[in-house]
Amino acid sequence: MAVQTLDDLLAEGVSGRGVLVRSDLNVPLDGGKITDPGRIIASVPTLKALADAGAKVIVTAHLGRPKGGVDPAFSLAPVATALSERLGRHVQLAGDVVGTDALARAEGLTDGDVLLLENIRFDPRETSKDDSERLALAKALVELVGEDGAFVSDGFGVVHRKQASVYDVATLLPHYAGTLVAAEVKVLQQLTSSSERPYAVVLGGSKVSDKLAVIENLATKADSIVIGGGMCFTFLAAQGVSVGTSLLQEEMIDTCRQLLETYGDVIHLPVDIVVAEKFAADSPAETVWADSIPADKMGLDIGPESVKRFTKLLSNARTIFWNGPMGVFEFPAFAAGTKGVAEAIVAATGKGAFSVVGGGDSAAAVRQLGLPEDGFSHISTGGGASLEYLEGKTLPGIEVLN
Ligand code: 3PG
Repeated sequence: MAVQTLDDLLAEGVSGRGVLVRSDLNVPLDGGKITDPGRIIASVPTLKALADAGAKVIVTAHLGRPKGGVDPAFSLAPVATALSERLGRHVQLAGDVVGTDALARAEGLTDGDVLLLENIRFDPRETSKDDSERLALAKALVELVGEDGAFVSDGFGVVHRKQASVYDVATLLPHYAGTLVAAEVKVLQQLTSSSERPYAVVLGGSKVSDKLAVIENLATKADSIVIGGGMCFTFLAAQGVSVGTSLLQEEMIDTCRQLLETYGDVIHLPVDIVVAEKFAADSPAETVWADSIPADKMGLDIGPESVKRFTKLLSNARTIFWNGPMGVFEFPAFAAGTKGVAEAIVAATGKGAFSVVGGGDSAAAVRQLGLPEDGFSHISTGGGASLEYLEGKTLPGIEVLN
């Protein structure tokens, strides 16, 4: 049977009914301030549709990775405020996850009210490996919406996690894919099933180990894989180049060497690097050839010649997937590589390419560098989730909806 969607639920009628929504509201915070509200904005359509239809909406979400229980530093309080503003409705925040305050507030909801539960990861059962522990938390969530309740899965960024609020709760309630999850899955299906050639993949970020499976999976499907960011130094080291004090995953050098041997004609590495003495915004920057990185310097961005070559490659691509920044874009002196490559993707999209930005840091870079969000075909809210999808893995939060 096909996955039921929010439209199906709305057609059934939700007025007066308790609806539990799993959203991904895991936004970056700096001193309590939200630096990129992308995931909050993306969560609004589903919540608004339900509230407008008169549902009693109970939202569950996580923030960060709190260890061992309640930690005020990971409270969803700033998110509740931002969500209220974006939704144009007051969003109450429960003082606990499924405790007495959450229960009392859930009971007091009237049609169209929205209640956000405190960080679901304050309850260790959420991420427990023990099925019965997760199920117990899922049952407590179900109690909040009552027996005629429904579950809407809309936290695309977390569907790769087999967690109580993502997976187990869907086994207990009638379940539906929210608009965000449905849209994200549709785009990823399009990317994997009918990718027009040439297909270019742009990968960055700090760790090769995080991207290994996707490189292996896409190397046979894509025409080019462009590599930048911190992970490029392990590839450069695999070519026998000395990378100075740049980020290096020594244990991955052999793997990178094998990848280069097998897929050398598909993988493209930077030819020049912007280096500095230390990891700091004000550390003086200098551009060097990739095979001439000084021993006492670290690479913090790809250089202009690399941007030029990558731009050329991307200019005739018909399908593009981008995950991970090319450098430390948060520091203006080391943002040009990420900006240049992003602009090349925008230009290719303007010429008709289908482009997908794979969540996390690259989505944040698009917004922080002032690039037009509509310059890309789709900006995903899920970094890990979209990567795992492209790796060919089964996503528990999607599988359970089938
Ligand atoms: C993310 O930030 O990728 C999602 O919100 C999932 O968070 P997690 O990696 O802590 O499970």
